[in-house]
Amino acid sequence: MAFRVSAQTYTYVSHVLGVVAAIHPVLMLIGFIILGGEAIISYKALPWGKDVKKLIHLVLHAIALILGIIGVYTAFKFHNESGIANLYSLHSWLGIGTICLYGVQWLYGFLVFFFPGGSTALRSDSLPWHVLFGMFVYVLAVCSAVLGFLEKLTFLENSGLYKYGPEAFLVNFTAIVTTLYGAFVVFSAVTPDRVVDDFSYSSI
Ligand code: HEM
Ligand code: HEM
Repeated sequence: MAFRVSAQTYTYVSHVLGVVAAIHPVLMLIGFIILGGEAIISYKALPWGKDVKKLIHLVLHAIALILGIIGVYTAFKFHNESGIANLYSLHSWLGIGTICLYGVQWLYGFLVFFFPGGSTALRSDSLPWHVLFGMFVYVLAVCSAVLGFLEKLTFLENSGLYKYGPEAFLVNFTAIVTTLYGAFVVFSAVTPDRVVDDFSYSSI
């Protein structure tokens, strides 16, 4: 009986740990990559006024950051509860770097561009740096995610997963889709805004 209970407990604990481990990539992808990307392209993609777009940019980045923090917490929780060392891989180092820089970027953006808001000179001096640093942090997030896929697949293959099997292809293709998504976010942010001039004449 005691054996049955402990076996059930073991199965339950490993199931919970499995869920905790699996949720890390999902939260990181939805947060940093998808919502972070949408936040960046919101300035170019949305038709509303600057103030509305600024609010959307700020809120989407905040949700991305919160999901990122929860996602990294789940990775640490999984490691601690399974007795695995923390922060030993390049993925985890770049990942921690990404989340710290993302936090700094958000805080600076909030204080200078939103509340209490810097002087006009400070805002216009900061903007090019905000854009450059923002792109850098976003690209770093994409690189961390791709390294995460590589690491996960290497673990799976070392524990017997067929190297040309459907699961291996799925992981690699998800990493390629992530990279392409990141590339399109960067392209849309660096390309010049289309100026719509409804009032002057132009030939069709
Ligand atoms: C921007 C996205 C991501 C960030 C910032 C990030 C960050 C992190 C961090 C900080 C850790 C270390 C946890 C610890 O040491 O206890 C970690 C672990 C891990 N992550 Fe990610 N991650 C991201 C995306 C992904 C993705 C997409 C996968 C794909 C499956 C993944 C797979 C893993 C794995 C397998 C571990 C455990 C092994 C290790 O510590 O290197 N991560 N991640
Ligand atoms: C980690 C969080 C953030 C990242 C990664 C980030 C990144 C970026 C990027 C890449 C751009 C350029 C977009 C484009 O040219 O199409 C941008 C623009 C901008 N961001 Fe952020 N941002 C963040 C947080 C914030 C916050 C909290 C604010 C506060 C309101 C803010 C205010 C702005 C403003 C005012 C612009 C200029 C838009 C324009 O007039 O072209 N950002 N940001």
